Formats: sequence, structure tokens, C-alpha cells
Amino acid sequence: MAFTGTRAVPAAAAAAAAATLRGAPVAEPREAIRVDSHLDGGQERALADDVLDGLTRPFKELPPKHFYDARGARLFDRICELPEYYPTRAERAILEQRAGELAASTGAVELVELGSGTAAKTRVLLDALHAAGTLRRYVPFDVTESMVRDSARRLTAEYPGLQVHGVIGDFERHLDRVPRAVGPRIVAFLGGTIGNFPPGSRRRFLRQLARLLGDEDFLLMGTDLVKDPRVLEAAYDDAEGVTAEFNRNVLLVLNRELGADFDPADFDHVALFDREHEWIEMRLRARRELRVNVADLDLLVHFDAGEELRTEISAKFTPERLTGDLAAAGMQMAAWMTDPEALFALTLSQRS
Ligand SMILES: C[S@@+](CC[C@H](N)C(=O)[O-])C[C@H]1O[C@@H](n2cnc3c(N)ncnc32)[C@H](O)[C@@H]1O
Repeated sequence: MAFTGTRAVPAAAAAAAAATLRGAPVAEPREAIRVDSHLDGGQERALADDVLDGLTRPFKELPPKHFYDARGARLFDRICELPEYYPTRAERAILEQRAGELAASTGAVELVELGSGTAAKTRVLLDALHAAGTLRRYVPFDVTESMVRDSARRLTAEYPGLQVHGVIGDFERHLDRVPRAVGPRIVAFLGGTIGNFPPGSRRRFLRQLARLLGDEDFLLMGTDLVKDPRVLEAAYDDAEGVTAEFNRNVLLVLNRELGADFDPADFDHVALFDREHEWIEMRLRARRELRVNVADLDLLVHFDAGEELRTEISAKFTPERLTGDLAAAGMQMAAWMTDPEALFALTLSQRS
């Protein structure tokens, strides 16, 4: 259950009940769920462009958003439960400790969440906003349709009176489709997903996020912190091999969406910490020389034995790096919150 104790009857429901007793006409309650999709074929075009661009370069690369079809999203959920994957537990611990304070200090009536996934940790924030009596609307925004629709259904059942306006889209292309604010809001970007942007695009993206914020709004962002490379590498290369499966899943996406003929078993999963850039890289390394046909693009891709395809970077942060990125994007940090072991940070920022 998301919250316990006596639940107040939402004001609209109480008014409707009173009106019925008086025999007055009852206004139809507004639909609790609305979901807008902005992908319609556009995502396949984006995938095709990324494949044409990324697999014809000397150093092959694909952006990480293509991991997340329904299977990829389920695999990511399993990763979050793994003993090696500390970021989810650390971020949750911070949220559990600070959510009440966040609700009180922001006065937010709505929570917009970019890359919302299963919205598992989100419940901690929703509980706090509900307990503060301000919660009106939740806006989950994700590229995975099933995740947005499932969380909309589950959360409207768990939080009576909550409006959910889901957005199925690519936050690199559709940020302007976030619905207009209904009051002060928190824009949450959790899970360390900001680390998936290389530095230049990261600052560009943060500038776009700043534009989304009104004077009363806050950005709540989760960032993984620089630490012992052994801890970092284990988090991206678990003993059970779930992250390896997640990594190879992108090849199955290419097979299904673009008629490619990758055999995932031809690739090893590689996770390494790049000390110069302070980011984790996930790669897929060809076990032998390969020729892969991407039928829909009329593209033949050659891999030498041992050649690598980079599938994700996950940048790790220091307070200075994050402050610099936020400042360059026109934002100012209002709060820096970490877990007891300082593994992960949550920051609250406003437009400067
Ligand atoms: C690292 S997971 C984090 C999930 C969740 N926020 C958490 O903290 O556990 C990244 C999420 O962002 C979504 N995502 C990745 N790239 C995206 C994009 N370009 N546009 C929209 N959603 C994206 C994925 O589908 C996934 O749900």
C-alpha cells in the first residue's frame, strides 16, 4: 500500500455525494487518466537514424534509450533489485529521509517525472505530497509505452483523487509536450539517467529542463557519484548476468524493428570505468569477425573479432561538476542530499 491510516474522502467525491443526496445533477468526474503518445513511427525513424549514424562510424555507438522496449524495461527493473546495483537503494534511502521536507519546502501540487519507468521510488514522493495535502497530478514521461500506461493505472488506484497525465515520448525531442503546470511542481529526473548524456549534450538538455521550470518549480535530480571503480564496475557487471542481458537486448530491438540479424550470443558484455572522463561505459564486444545485415536499412555492418560497440555511458558526478553543469544551464542548486555512504546524490534546483 502506498499509505496507511484513515483516508480523507477527496473533496470532489464528498461534494458529489452531497449533491446526489440533495437530488441535484452531479457533474461527471474528470477522467483520472489521460495518456498522450508522441512516438507514432517517429521512434523507429530515430532508431534508424541512430543505427545509420552509429554503426557506420569507425568507433561504433548506439544511444542507450533503445534498450528500453518492454523486455528491456523489465530487465532494468531486475537490475534495480541486484545486490551490486546500489544506486536504486541509495536514492530510495535519500527520498525516504527527505521526502517530507521536499514536499513542505516546494509546496508542489504536481510531480512531473522524466524517464519514469515503473515509478517505484516515485511513491515515496507521492506519499509525502499526499500527506502534505497538496498532491493533484502526476505526469509520468517515458519512451516505454507499457511503463507509462501501467503506472498510470496503478497509481490512480492507489491514490484516490490523483490525476495522471502520462506522456509517451522521447525527452530529447518532446519536452515541449509536458502539459502546462497546474501549480507549483517538482520535475523529477531520477535514477542517474542524466549521466547517460555526454557532457555537451548534458548541458544542452539541462538548459531545456531549465526552460520547463516556472518561478515556483523545482528540478529534483538523481546523480550517481564518483567512487571506487570496483564498486562502479560491479554495479554494471553483476554476477547473475542480468546487466549483460539488458545490454544485449538492444540487438534484439534492432532485429525486431529494423530486420537486423544480430545473434546476441556473438557479443560479450563489457563494463569499464573510464577514469579520465569519470564515466562507466557499457560495450558489446564481437566474439569473432561478423557481418550483420540490417535489412530495412539496406546496411551491411562489419565487426572485426574483438571490435566493440558502445551502448551506454553513465557519468559519475562530484558536487563541483554538477554545480557547474547546473550553472551553465541557468539553474542554481538549492539542496544537495546524499545517503549515509555518500554513494548517490539527490539535488533540488531552481532557475537562477
Ligand atoms: C535508468 S532508467 C531509470 C528509471 C527510473 N526513473 C528509476 O529511477 O529507476 C531510465 C528510464 O528512462 C527512460 N528513457 C531513457 N531514455 C529516454 C528518452 N530519450 N526519452 C524518454 N524516456 C527515456 C527509460 O525507458 C527508463 O524508464
